[in-house]
Amino acid sequence: MTRDRPECKISPSILSSDFARLAEECERMVSCGADWLHVDVMDGHFVPNLTLGAPIVKSLRKNLPDAFLDCHLMVSNPKQWVPDFAKAGASLYCFHLECLMDDGSSEAQAAEVSALIDLIRESGMKAGVALKPKTPAEWVLPFLDKLDLVLVLTVEPGFGGQKFMADVVGKCSVIRAASKEIDIEVDGGLSPSTVDAAAAVGANVVVAGSAIFGSDKPAEVITTLRTSVEKHANAAA
Ligand code: DX5
Ligand code: ZN
Repeated sequence: MTRDRPECKISPSILSSDFARLAEECERMVSCGADWLHVDVMDGHFVPNLTLGAPIVKSLRKNLPDAFLDCHLMVSNPKQWVPDFAKAGASLYCFHLECLMDDGSSEAQAAEVSALIDLIRESGMKAGVALKPKTPAEWVLPFLDKLDLVLVLTVEPGFGGQKFMADVVGKCSVIRAASKEIDIEVDGGLSPSTVDAAAAVGANVVVAGSAIFGSDKPAEVITTLRTSVEKHANAAA
C-alpha cells in the first residue's frame, strides 16, 4: 500500500529551553503550535555533553499526558535505556546507527540493529534511527521497512546553536526515494532561512531549538517552518 508523504511535524528542541521551567516551556511550545517535543538525551560519551535521562521524560509525561515526546538518544549504548524510556512514557526512541555499525556491510551488525528496532517497538515506542553528518544514507536503507523515522543530523550532534550543514541534506532524497511514507526528520541549525533546503529534498519533520526558543514570536517561526514543508510536499505530490 502506498501513502502520500507523511504529515509535517514541527518538533521544538527543548535543549534550548529554560530547564528550570521545563514543563511550562513545553506547554508554551504546544500552545504555539508544536506537533512534537524533541528531547535530546546526551550521555557525555557518545557526544561531549550531558543533558537529561528517563526521570525527566517521566516528569514531562506526567505534566503533558498527550504530548508526543520525540526522544533523540545520543548515547553509546542505546539498548541499555530502552526499558527506562518506555516506562517513562517516551513516544519515539531514536538511536544513532554509528553506535552499532562501523560500516554498512557487516551482517552481524545489521542483525543487532534489527533486533534493537524490534525491542523498541515491542516496548511500545515508535522506532527511529539517527545518522551523523558523515554517515551515508545507504546504511539505513535495509531497515526502512521496520522503522517509523530516520533522523538526518545537519550538525555534529552535541550542542544546540550550530550552523546548518547544507551539504548533508542530500541524504534525505536518497531516503525519500526509497520510502514515500517514512518520517524524515532534520535536526541542527534549522530556521526559516535553512528549512527550504531540507523540505525540498523530502524532510517532513523539522527540529529547531535556537530558532524557536530564541525568538520572541515562536508561534510565527513554527508557522513559517510548517509552510515551507507543506509547500514542498505539495510540489512533490
Ligand atoms: C544537537 C541536537 C539538536 C539541537 C538543535 O545535538 O540534536 O536537537 O538541540 O538545536 P538548534 O536548532 O539550535 O541547532
Ligand atoms: Zn536532536
